[in-house]
Amino acid sequence: MRAVVLLCLLHVAPGRSQFEWDGPERAAPGAVTSSASACNVDTLSCECCKMVRETNRLQTYFSTTLTNLERELDKVNQTFVTLQGSRVAFSVSLYTGDNFKCFGPFGVDTVIAYQHIFINLGMAYNMATGVFTVTYPGVYSLAVTSFSDAGSPGNTLAVCTSLQVNGQIVAGSRELNRSDQEDSSTIAVALKLKAGDKVSVKLVKGCFLCDDSSHYNTFSAFLLYADA
Ligand SMILES: *[C@@H]1O[C@H](CO)[C@@H](O)[C@H](O)[C@H]1NC(C)=O
Ligand SMILES: *[C@@H]1O[C@H](CO)[C@@H](O)[C@H](O)[C@H]1NC(C)=O
Repeated sequence: MRAVVLLCLLHVAPGRSQFEWDGPERAAPGAVTSSASACNVDTLSCECCKMVRETNRLQTYFSTTLTNLERELDKVNQTFVTLQGSRVAFSVSLYTGDNFKCFGPFGVDTVIAYQHIFINLGMAYNMATGVFTVTYPGVYSLAVTSFSDAGSPGNTLAVCTSLQVNGQIVAGSRELNRSDQEDSSTIAVALKLKAGDKVSVKLVKGCFLCDDSSHYNTFSAFLLYADA
């Protein structure tokens, strides 16, 4: 009996490809006819070939399932690769050097071109212009911290900046006082931005910012949720 079963299994082994496309419910081609003819010979062969048929059916089923899973994995991997490519995060500060310097005041609102780069993943922030151009649409987290120093007590302090998208003010920060020598203020918002949007920080006219290697003035943004 063992020999018959073995022969039977050997019979089915050659000629079967690794991947079947027929789906789990279909029996392997040829299995029915060989089983039918075997049943004419004797019961043992009949049982054996039923087993072979079942083995073929399972092989087809698992091959199809595996193929489908591989296709799904490919799709998930492509989504992951796309997401990895769309990473956007930058964080910059006003100056690179150690010397204490001030920016402004100017007669008009002026875009601040932050010069020190902590990170500029995706190269969306342009150091020459101070403008962050949105490459991937989605929800972004943005933050601006502004600091100034009047130089000595009693001097006018004017810390005022605004976060702008396409020239429109989104949020501002303002700290004006004649007696307080130093001050700092922060804007933090989450915004839905489209590809091509231009985001910048403007120094409001008449105001000024000061900084050194302590990086008191920072501008940061990162993509929180990319649009699907
Ligand atoms: C995912 O896709 C990338 C790029 O197409 C490829 O290099 C990588 O081997 C893939 N990984 C898997 C697990 O399929
Ligand atoms: C300015 O600062 C002085 C001293 O710290 C304080 O008394 C005064 O209230 C401040 N004025 C404003 C408008 O915040």
